[in-house]
Amino acid sequence: MGSDAASEAGAEGRPARQVDKAIAVILAGGVGVRAGLGMPKQLARIAGKSILEHTVAAICSSPVIDEVLIMMEAAHLGEAAALKDSGRYPKLVGVFSGGASRNDTTRLAIDQVAARSGAGNAKVLFHDAVRPFVSHRILRDCVAALDRFNAVDTAIPSADTIIQVGDTRAIITDVPRRDRLRRGQTPQAFRLETIRRAYRAAEADPGFAATDDCTVVLRYLPEVPIFVVDGSEENMKITQAIDVVLADKLFQLKTHDPDVFDREARGRMAGKVLVVFGGSEGIGKALVETAEAWGAKVFSFSRGTTGTHVEAREEVRAALSLAHDEAGRVDYVVNCAGILTIGELETTTDDDLRASLEVNLVAPIIIAQEAVGYLRQSAGQLLFFTSSSYTRGRARYGVYSAAKAAIVNLTQSLAEEWHDDDVRVNCVNPERTHTPMRTHAFGEEPAGTLLSPEIVALACLDTLLSPATGQVVDVRRHAAAEASSAAKEPAQA
Ligand code: CTP
Repeated sequence: MGSDAASEAGAEGRPARQVDKAIAVILAGGVGVRAGLGMPKQLARIAGKSILEHTVAAICSSPVIDEVLIMMEAAHLGEAAALKDSGRYPKLVGVFSGGASRNDTTRLAIDQVAARSGAGNAKVLFHDAVRPFVSHRILRDCVAALDRFNAVDTAIPSADTIIQVGDTRAIITDVPRRDRLRRGQTPQAFRLETIRRAYRAAEADPGFAATDDCTVVLRYLPEVPIFVVDGSEENMKITQAIDVVLADKLFQLKTHDPDVFDREARGRMAGKVLVVFGGSEGIGKALVETAEAWGAKVFSFSRGTTGTHVEAREEVRAALSLAHDEAGRVDYVVNCAGILTIGELETTTDDDLRASLEVNLVAPIIIAQEAVGYLRQSAGQLLFFTSSSYTRGRARYGVYSAAKAAIVNLTQSLAEEWHDDDVRVNCVNPERTHTPMRTHAFGEEPAGTLLSPEIVALACLDTLLSPATGQVVDVRRHAAAEASSAAKEPAQA
């Protein structure tokens, strides 16, 4: 295989081998001692799903990945097999037992990949099950880099200065230059033949020990250049118990990133049945218009146009029933109705207090209760709105802030409660948006400081079409600017 090594050293510029599959292997063979959860940390549930399932979903939704395998900790094989059997992830084609160490798990995975990849020299991506925030961009960069290199790592610069200590672990022996240091993440990606050869060589070495796969190539195939793809801070590894808490927060903070949301999916809105409460102005109106332009059948209800009060159960029930009777199904329910009253708490009248709580909190609960039966039938989605004040209450609109914080909590609870019914629940958190509700409360604000309702509507529709659940989707102006140029039209189905 020496000639292969020579060709690897000069692999740059080699033409793409279109036929070779890209197979992602999710390494989930660990028990997670450091996290101390009493179970493998990849099975901890956050935002409605296990960490493992989040990782599976992130990778399966990438257009550059053809097949996905899971190498699972042996005592919990059943949980991974259930994901495969659920049918939710058609690219997930195999679930196997991991090994005693991470490298043993990789070794076992190589055999499985070889069995699946036929004659080709597959592109293999090894990814930690406990890095659920891997982005489509990273996966794309890794797969693309394998057209030029046979080994690829993912890494980010180190913010901390890294020091090396001696045998006693107490005295510094070196401080490497920080600008040359990177923190290794995953995926680590290889041409199958390359990683196979590296492991074969490692097997012959009785002193073999490593914590990742690039080390194996570096040590045993030193002539093979390992290209480095930019990772991201979000692509964190859940290692300690505190990381589970941080990951939970990160899941809440999904940004409407045009790179993450799947533009190809937009064609799928055609023929869908969408019920919008509060659809007569602002974001609701923009949502109705955009969804109709994308071919959805939209039923819009509001106080002004249909006399529908979202806090009145009978009226919500009648609205949903009308849509269902007419269209035969309800795929999505979105609540855009809200009221924002500004004023000191001390002087807030009883009427204002009750109206705020009823429209901003009781109504979403009623809508959820009345909608879930329909959404179960369609495996659909319920979408709420929160406000950036949910993370930190603001003076002079504390009741509104409190209700919006409760909506986030409600979203997460329902996402979990309805997960097994395939009903998804999310909420959108737009930055300040140019709506009549906002103008009424704050007056006219400088042009260019507010999001347009149309951009928020796009984020809503992308969320409805995504597999996400239990998430707070932030819509920010800087991300929106990027999205708006390419996002006005739905993709072809
Ligand atoms: N891993 C694996 N097989 C092993 C050990 C680890 O597939 N025998 C996987 C883990 O499931 C995880 C990834 O490698 O997705 C990163 O490893 P690490 O965070 O070190 O995981 P654990 O071994 O689970 O954690 P700990 O070291 O705290 O026990």
